[in-house]
Amino acid sequence: MRSDVTLRRLDEVLLQDLLDAAVVDADPDEVMPPVAGAAGWTGERRTAFLRFHRSRSLSAEPVESTYAIVVGDAVVGAARLYPLEGPRHAVEAGVWIGRSHRGSGVGSAVLRHLLVLARTDGFDSLFVSTTSGNTAVQRLLAAMDVDLVREGDSVTAWVDLVAAGHG
Ligand SMILES: CC(C)(COP(=O)(O)OP(=O)(O)OC[C@H]1O[C@@H](n2cnc3c(N)ncnc32)[C@H](O)[C@@H]1OP(=O)(O)O)[C@@H](O)C(=O)NCCC(=O)NCCS
Repeated sequence: MRSDVTLRRLDEVLLQDLLDAAVVDADPDEVMPPVAGAAGWTGERRTAFLRFHRSRSLSAEPVESTYAIVVGDAVVGAARLYPLEGPRHAVEAGVWIGRSHRGSGVGSAVLRHLLVLARTDGFDSLFVSTTSGNTAVQRLLAAMDVDLVREGDSVTAWVDLVAAGHG
């Protein structure tokens, strides 16, 4: 596993770096909910990106934990852990990495870090949801030997954090 990949809990300084990384190296629809209007990183979309993370992670009552993905000294993406309602005591993982850093093992290292963080936070399982076309996520999950559930365009998986062997 790559040793130069770390996760740092998001704060206002890292949030600005994260926006810069997203604008330079990712499409809006890869990193944030849809915003109406012209394509690309418009002023409205940049503002919405900041508002999204402030409301979800940096507010007085955050609904999820967000981490800047750092390679060396550079912020290259974001990873999120979103606690789910229900009996499983589960948390959903979300990740995006800038285009220029994809396909070189960063995602794999991030998933390992998220497993440790989720387990440390006391969760019993980690949920991942993606689309059938997202081969990279499916390969990440396949490497963990978890069952992938396919329904239409959706692919989901539950990673058991209590059983030995993951992370
Ligand atoms: C999905 C994502 C997080 C994966 O991170 P990554 O750093 O590119 O992944 P890695 O380099 O660790 O590769 C993980 C596996 O996927 C494979 N892979 C990576 N990119 C791939 C691609 N474009 N097509 C097919 N396989 C790919 C790698 O070969 C590796 O498989 P292997 O271990 O069997 O060789 C990243 O590509 C990304 O941010 N994509 C855009 C946003 C996104 O899709 N987020 C996930 C939403 S659920």
